[in-house]
Amino acid sequence: MAGRERNAILFFSATFFFTFMAASSSSAPIKAGYWPTWTVSYSPPSSIDLSLFTHVFYAFVQVDSATFQLNVTAADDRLLKDFSAAIHAHGSPVKALLSIGGGDSDSAFAALAAGPDTRSAFIESTIAVARRYGLEGLDLDWEFPKDDKEMADFGKLLLEWNAAAASEAAATGRPRLLLTAAVYFAPRFFLSRTPQSYPAKQMAVALDWINAMCYDFHGSWDTTATGEHAALYDPRSNISTSYGLKSWIAAGMPAAKVAMGMPMYGRTWRLSDPSQHGVGAPAAGVGLGEKGVLIYAKVVEFNRNNSATVVHDEATVAAYSYAGTSWVGYDDPWSVTRKVEYARQLGIGGYFFWAIGYDDGWNLTGTAWRAWGY
Ligand SMILES: *[C@@H]1O[C@H](CO)[C@@H](O)[C@H](O)[C@H]1NC(C)=O
Ligand SMILES: *[C@@H]1O[C@H](CO)[C@@H](O)[C@H](O)[C@H]1NC(C)=O
Ligand SMILES: *[C@@H]1O[C@H](CO)[C@@H](O)[C@H](O)[C@H]1NC(C)=O
Ligand SMILES: *[C@@H]1O[C@H](CO)[C@@H](O)[C@H](O)[C@H]1NC(C)=O
Repeated sequence: MAGRERNAILFFSATFFFTFMAASSSSAPIKAGYWPTWTVSYSPPSSIDLSLFTHVFYAFVQVDSATFQLNVTAADDRLLKDFSAAIHAHGSPVKALLSIGGGDSDSAFAALAAGPDTRSAFIESTIAVARRYGLEGLDLDWEFPKDDKEMADFGKLLLEWNAAAASEAAATGRPRLLLTAAVYFAPRFFLSRTPQSYPAKQMAVALDWINAMCYDFHGSWDTTATGEHAALYDPRSNISTSYGLKSWIAAGMPAAKVAMGMPMYGRTWRLSDPSQHGVGAPAAGVGLGEKGVLIYAKVVEFNRNNSATVVHDEATVAAYSYAGTSWVGYDDPWSVTRKVEYARQLGIGGYFFWAIGYDDGWNLTGTAWRAWGY
């Protein structure tokens, strides 16, 4: 009896295992990071640990608002060559993608997405630039289409981008370029007055995956109280990573095409009263760092310099630390492990970090890589 039960359990786990493998083996996990060009002085492409990423994004190039082609400046030309060479060094399997926009080309995106000729000028230029520098993909970072019209145009742009990438691949015999987009943490802007929604079903068809920016939930725009800007859970609202990821899947994005964004930076506040130092404690302004932002390496330094108290907040699954009136909310190895485990159980495609170069000696990057497994 005991033996039969055990066999039944073994059979069940084997079935579960193979079903699970079949479901997830269609694509290897996405373990990505953005590389901002302005970090080149302390984080050059050649310093990126290629054993800790599957995909690396060059951030950013902008769009010329007159021609709607990519404006690859002389500096970009040099950096893109270095970037592509570094990511592909020694036969590395890591894929290099070019991220476009990042907030600075939003008005160009809105104008170009509105018409077929301008869409195709943009699309042709992006494919040509990706091929010129030997990149494997392109990432659209429009932050954000601001109403239903721009959302509809965004959907058209992505579908045409996908069709153009497919026909270029067929015509040249090269592997099709990967197409991704960096998007709001949730498919609907439920906090805005006219809550626009992404065309999730078109995005599911057109894109290889989306990078859901699950961070900046709180920050310098509200200095009245401390907040965890990338909380996995929020007991009081839907402004959380778990809500964003689940609502993308509910909106029609296949789970395997969702990557969870994690910040490699904290957001800081100055406490009104040093004896009130929890999440949501009264604050009197932003804290350390430019506009209340501290990269993770500086958070570690702040904690060490000030012997700060570090708290692992179970309710939000986020870390925070404080010393005197200084308070910072951030992700650390503990919260990154918990978030990656959550993401795996949800069955999503993987994760990405903003940004490479902000880590403390690859501690967060390595923790995430190991927590996901292979
Ligand atoms: C391209 O970018 C550079 C640097 O930001 C800027 O000076 C130049 O005006 C841009 N060119 C076009 C055509 O947008
Ligand atoms: C969160 O979203 C769900 C549905 O998406 C809604 O039913 C619920 O009321 C929301 N909760 C809050 C606190 O807004
Ligand atoms: C930590 O202390 C060092 C040495 O005094 C200083 O250079 C650095 O700026 C401090 N860092 C932070 C984040 O407070
Ligand atoms: C990584 O972070 C953890 C938790 O903050 C710390 O205990 C550990 O010493 C760090 N490891 C390295 C190599 O810095």
